[in-house]
Amino acid sequence: TDIYGIFGYPVKHSKSPQFQTSAFSYLNIPAVYLPFEVKPEDLEKAVESIKVLGIKGVNITVPHKEEVIKYLNEVSEEVKYIKACNTIKNIDGYLIGYNTDAEGFITGLKQLIPNLEGKKVLVLGAGGASRAIIYSLIKEGVDKIYQANRTLGKVFKIIEDFKPLTKFIEEIILPISYDKIECCVLPYVDIIVNTTSVGLNEEDKPLFDYSKIEKKHIVIDIIYKKTPLLKAAENKGCQWQDGLPMLLYQGAKAFEIWTGKKAPIDVMKKALL
Ligand code: ATR
Repeated sequence: TDIYGIFGYPVKHSKSPQFQTSAFSYLNIPAVYLPFEVKPEDLEKAVESIKVLGIKGVNITVPHKEEVIKYLNEVSEEVKYIKACNTIKNIDGYLIGYNTDAEGFITGLKQLIPNLEGKKVLVLGAGGASRAIIYSLIKEGVDKIYQANRTLGKVFKIIEDFKPLTKFIEEIILPISYDKIECCVLPYVDIIVNTTSVGLNEEDKPLFDYSKIEKKHIVIDIIYKKTPLLKAAENKGCQWQDGLPMLLYQGAKAFEIWTGKKAPIDVMKKALL
């Protein structure tokens, strides 16, 4: 039996054990997938244990995604840009890090809009989660990313870090303050993505006036529930999506990296829901 798992702190809430286990069992792969609660100060030892115990692969979740990188033998290209790793594959003691959040996000978004080339996107937030989303949007050839954040320094840092990806980076990512969204961004964008934690609690102050959302907008929130932003989008008749598709597809991609087999999406989706 092969061992897989997820490192997080806390990790109890994670839905990965249930849907990864469903995939292994559906494909008759003898494997277990376990949640491991790893304290930040124990992360290095925990990563070492992957090798020692012969664990085949792990997912990495909050708060370890950035920190874990320095303990790996190699990371893939997207991890270098995103500076976060959510999937580790163990090849005979050699640990390779991937970030499947980026592809997971895009696969989910493409269910609503199959071709992203030339699209204009409003991204709310400039934290770790936004970096995976920005990376994947640029790879898909979007035209503009208006990126709003309270502290715009973080957006300038992203522009700086993503320079090697395209020489047009300064024309693609445009920093924008929240008070300019209604007048100067909403009329022009096709897609709105919330990457902040705002909306997790109903009483959170909205990031902008959601009543200004129009039917033409596709609205995504990476939080795993119908937030006030998504409710506003639904009221306007927009296409919208919560964070579950991103969760599902990042997991499916991790499964494929570990096993080399096509992930049974429908089975995993059923287990997730
Ligand atoms: P994650 O890895 O989930 O992206 P993070 O790196 O801590 O987490 O980033 C959190 C993001 O949510 C940031 O963009 C943060 O904005 P600031 O950089 O200005 O702090 C944003 N955020 C959190 N709470 C917010 C709030 N109440 N209003 C606006 N933005 C908020």
